[in-house]
Amino acid sequence: MENILQKINETAQFIKDRVPYQMDTGIILGSGLGDFAELVESPIVIKYKDLPNFPVSTVAGHAGRMVMGKIRDTMVMVMQGRFHFYEGYTLEEVTFPIRVMSLLGIKKLLLTNAAGGINTSFVPGDLMVIKDHINLGCGNPLIGKNLDSFGPRFPDMSKVYSKRLIDKLKAIYDKNDIRFVSGVYACLTGPSFETPAEIRMLRIMGADAVGMSTVPEAIVARHCNMEICGISCITNMAAGILDKPLTHQEVIDTSNMVKDKFETCLSELL
Ligand code: HPA
Repeated sequence: MENILQKINETAQFIKDRVPYQMDTGIILGSGLGDFAELVESPIVIKYKDLPNFPVSTVAGHAGRMVMGKIRDTMVMVMQGRFHFYEGYTLEEVTFPIRVMSLLGIKKLLLTNAAGGINTSFVPGDLMVIKDHINLGCGNPLIGKNLDSFGPRFPDMSKVYSKRLIDKLKAIYDKNDIRFVSGVYACLTGPSFETPAEIRMLRIMGADAVGMSTVPEAIVARHCNMEICGISCITNMAAGILDKPLTHQEVIDTSNMVKDKFETCLSELL
């Protein structure tokens, strides 16, 4: 436990020594959405492999870099690629960057991901604003001795996703003629896609979209009292809805297709 605190401190200090300004917002870019980092002005780029104590992302479609600088009038820290439980990382490793952000004084977090649409009114290419989540399968990243300096043992999860930011996104979608969809994101471990029976189960549970990330990060960010906003790019309809197999290529292709729309939403939010 001393060890994890020390590591978080060490990584935060390493970044502080290289980034001469206070950052306000953390952004995590999901599969195929990494190009958003190109909007960062005068970027300071650090590869994960050069960051002390940082895991290294292994997924195709994830660059594995931290990009810091300005977008619009906001100083941001953008993660181009994240760590997933299915890559073999512990949840402590998956959520390590969030705690580093917290130590750096970052108070807002935009989480993005690629997800399968469970709600049959969705179409691939929709950008679902996350209203709430269901944590299935990965376990809870806060298990273990509580890091009291970050937050309480039993943090409230009744408002993980900021209503203020959801309302702002709704206004941005409306202004730009982007179809506004919102819903509940369910996180399973992956890496196999779900079965049709699992998707029917998730629908009964109240999930609108399914993916393999985001929830551990949101829990840890909530623990350290960040204001959180989440967007799921619906890259495909979930298993069993259409009569075709799911592939990672489809996930990447669809997220590339909605790149402009995604950039509009996120940058206007900033
Ligand atoms: N299931 C799980 N994760 C995903 C999916 C899906 O259908 N699409 C993109 N990420």
